Amino acid sequence: MNFNIGVIRGDGIGPEIVTEAVKVLDAIGAKYGHTFNYTEILMGGCSIDATGEPLTDEAVEKALASDAVLMGSIGGNTSTSPWYKLPADKRPEAGLLKLRKSLNLFANLRPAYLYDELKEACPLRDDIIGDGFDMMIMRELTGGLYFGERSTKEENGQLVARDSLTYSENEIRRIAKRGFDIAMKRRKKVTSVDKANVLDSSRLWRKIVEEVAADYPEVSYEHMLVDNCAMQLVKDPGQFDVILTENMFGDILSDEASMVTGSIGMLSSASLNDTKFGLYEPSGGSAPDIAGQGIANPIATILSAAMMLRYSFDLDAEADAIEAAVKKVLKAGYRTIDIMPRDGSAVTRVGTVEMGDLIVKEL
Ligand code: NAD
Ligand code: IPM
Ligand code: MN
Repeated sequence: MNFNIGVIRGDGIGPEIVTEAVKVLDAIGAKYGHTFNYTEILMGGCSIDATGEPLTDEAVEKALASDAVLMGSIGGNTSTSPWYKLPADKRPEAGLLKLRKSLNLFANLRPAYLYDELKEACPLRDDIIGDGFDMMIMRELTGGLYFGERSTKEENGQLVARDSLTYSENEIRRIAKRGFDIAMKRRKKVTSVDKANVLDSSRLWRKIVEEVAADYPEVSYEHMLVDNCAMQLVKDPGQFDVILTENMFGDILSDEASMVTGSIGMLSSASLNDTKFGLYEPSGGSAPDIAGQGIANPIATILSAAMMLRYSFDLDAEADAIEAAVKKVLKAGYRTIDIMPRDGSAVTRVGTVEMGDLIVKEL
């Protein structure tokens, strides 16, 4: 079969990790008889440098014309890069937000799973890790604080900045349904995370989640306050199956969850709408501190490509093959710098390209 993939290499480690994911896709194509056609799409700092905009309308059109988009990461060092002297809507991140909104990618799936082979990279104690954990963070991606009204104005002789947090019933209902649908295919447990002890938007969130839950009698569900959830993730991560939450809480909790799997470099993600289209990207950023050194972990991006095969192209066997290859390479003791064992046990340290090559070889 033929598939058209938009490719956003982005900034920092983005181009390095995307190259490895494309290499893996090509190997899958050769083995299973598919053709993947790639269209390069500019987004982020590199797009600002080339066009003055973090994401042009033409780039959005290219994304829309693709069957799916594979992305690396965008942005630079937010204290030192000249991109952050620009107004907020001209910065690299504004491109990503525009893409998510333009394509209505409201459902962000971030699977946090501990590979047996990475137990020694997990910062938690063995008695806390127990039999490991396997959770799916379902993050709402096109509402909340990220897309509310913003302003910075002088009032009474000082600057006052505002960001507003808005959620409508429909926005909450559609993401809640996705969360419960996913739970039905997993261990049938949803933890809905909010801050209903303070926020109106969270109280509405809770009410709508209750309504949706009534349609899924087989799924057990609970509400958890976000501060408690942050703590529970390191106290007992095995308790979670599906974590359902709003945009900002999901952003923060998913970085925390990624670290208990060993590294942000392991956390893949899929951003979906109501069609087969999807945007697939690692959950981490452009890692300016290690960009250009050839040491970034490409696994999150490679696993995001596997999610693309599964969710957008219905190529389950091919996605399984990538996941199995990643597991085999870890089992054979190969590690990038971010997933080195904390007990100093013997492994082979490899760079970005070698890790990609090893995964291709196992396919
Ligand atoms: P970051 O995720 O880029 O980096 C945080 C830490 O994790 C760094 O020490 C980095 O080296 C490490 N890290 C991240 N990915 C790694 C990988 N694949 N392998 C090994 N180590 C890895 O977060 P940050 O430093 O806060 O942000 C840097 C820039 O990235 C900012 O401009 C931010 O806006 C942007 N960002 C972009 C995305 C995205 O494109 N989806 C996501 C998050 C942050
Ligand atoms: C992520 C990133 C983005 C977000 C930034 C770059 C806008 O942190 O995908 O997690 O906050 O959603
Ligand atoms: Mn984030």
